[in-house]
Amino acid sequence: MIRHTLLFLAGAALAIAPAFADGDAAAGQASYATCIACHGDNAQGNKALNAPRLNHLEPVYIAAQLHKFRSGARGGEGATATAKTMAPMAAVLADDAAVVNVAAYIAGLESPASTATVEGDTNMGADYYNQFCGACHGAGAVGNPALNSPRLAGGDDWYLQAQLLAFRSGERGAHPDDKTGKQMRAMAMILPNEQAVRDVVAYLHSLGQ
Ligand code: HEC
Ligand code: HEC
Repeated sequence: MIRHTLLFLAGAALAIAPAFADGDAAAGQASYATCIACHGDNAQGNKALNAPRLNHLEPVYIAAQLHKFRSGARGGEGATATAKTMAPMAAVLADDAAVVNVAAYIAGLESPASTATVEGDTNMGADYYNQFCGACHGAGAVGNPALNSPRLAGGDDWYLQAQLLAFRSGERGAHPDDKTGKQMRAMAMILPNEQAVRDVVAYLHSLGQ
């Protein structure tokens, strides 16, 4: 029953992702200088600053999130303190071209998988993932840009956990202009409890990069 609902949602709500023009990574390198202090020189992330790894993400998703931070759809009123830290940083980027270029630069960077910090039952997590998440995020959690769904494999486990909790509390995905966040918010709320959040995150981390 739930499976059918998910397939319906995946088909109906996410039919068309707009075309995305690739940015100029060389031009984006200069803007990335502002980001290094928190995200690191290879966009490997820095847990002590709550700044996540970024280099596993598709440029289209990085740019979409930067646009949300710039418009206030993410990181505005009612958001987590960490999202509010990021919003003014996205505002530093000069224009839409700068957003797309820095996204292209970040996606070309590399770093090893981060270490596990969240404990959970990976078998339970795999069950939850296959039942509730895979339709959008794909087998192996590699993401599906056509459904606006980001890659989760390779993401920092502490960050994935924090985002799922933020979706559940409405600190992310509740802004009226955040349509894709709203879709994900509904999905995060399907998980029965916070142990299930840890289980699915532990499973995602076990997938490696
Ligand atoms: C002061 C530290 C800081 C700086 C500088 C900073 N960020 Fe961030 N960034 C963060 C934090 C903290 C988060 C996590 C936000 C959250 O918890 O929702 C974040 C999140 C992001 C995300 C969302 C990733 C995802 O998977 O959803 C992107 C994209 C991003 N930053 C890009 C950038 C870019 C590009 C720059 C430079 C223009 C930059 N950041 C500069 C702290 C920073
Ligand atoms: C209906 C499709 C759909 C389903 C099903 C779905 N997601 Fe998502 N997910 C999305 C979309 C779309 C986004 C991007 C949200 C945005 O644009 O802010 C997202 C974003 C996320 C993020 C934030 C990643 C980041 O780097 O910021 C996490 C974590 C996540 N999903 C985990 C899950 C988990 C775990 C499940 C299963 C319980 C799940 N998703 C089910 C569509 C879906």
